[in-house]
Amino acid sequence: MIIAVDGPAASGKGTIARAIAAHFGLPLLDTGLLYRAVGMATVRAGGDPDVEDDALKACQFDNAALADPALRSEAAGGLASRVSVHPKVRAALLKRQRDFAGQPGGAVLDGRDIGTVIVPSADAKLYVTASAEVRARRRQLEDYDRDYPAILAEILARDERDASRADAPMRRADDADLLDTSDLSVDDAVQRAIAIVEARLRR
Ligand code: CDP
Repeated sequence: MIIAVDGPAASGKGTIARAIAAHFGLPLLDTGLLYRAVGMATVRAGGDPDVEDDALKACQFDNAALADPALRSEAAGGLASRVSVHPKVRAALLKRQRDFAGQPGGAVLDGRDIGTVIVPSADAKLYVTASAEVRARRRQLEDYDRDYPAILAEILARDERDASRADAPMRRADDADLLDTSDLSVDDAVQRAIAIVEARLRR
């Protein structure tokens, strides 16, 4: 059984994907971490994240690199968004994601293009969203040192870049269930998500 969870930054998709994976006893791949690892490795090697071949050279990392706490920073998220526009980078990371999805028993993957490109045949697809203002407030709660207008601007810039890129833009798959978490607590969002996936699997 393969479950795809997509959506924009701070929509709650990571928390929801973790809860769904635990609920169904499935392994989870946070695919954003792959792009974050490429972005950080590109810069650390002295490359330019906006140059496709520089970013491509950084795609050969092993999975241990994904545990680096630095990957969780908003700076790494911004770098990820820049390297993720390159078709060669997306192609280089495709097999890793499809192999993970194809393991016996299945898996949960969360990202931007899981339901549209990586596993269009997923058994259940969830597109998790929330207003940009709510998402910026959530990010601010995680990082008191940054001011709200700067975080909101960053979120809007990332949404724009992710949704407008030519290759695998962020969008809801036609057959994905939509969950807007703007007015939901974490617990309510998780319960709602599990109920939606269970209903989909019964169909
Ligand atoms: O946690 P957050 O939503 O802020 O970010 P993330 O899921 O770690 O993704 C970071 C960036 O990687 C996104 O802004 C996308 O540009 C890119 N990404 C992507 O292009 N495709 C994916 N499947 C996952 C992430």
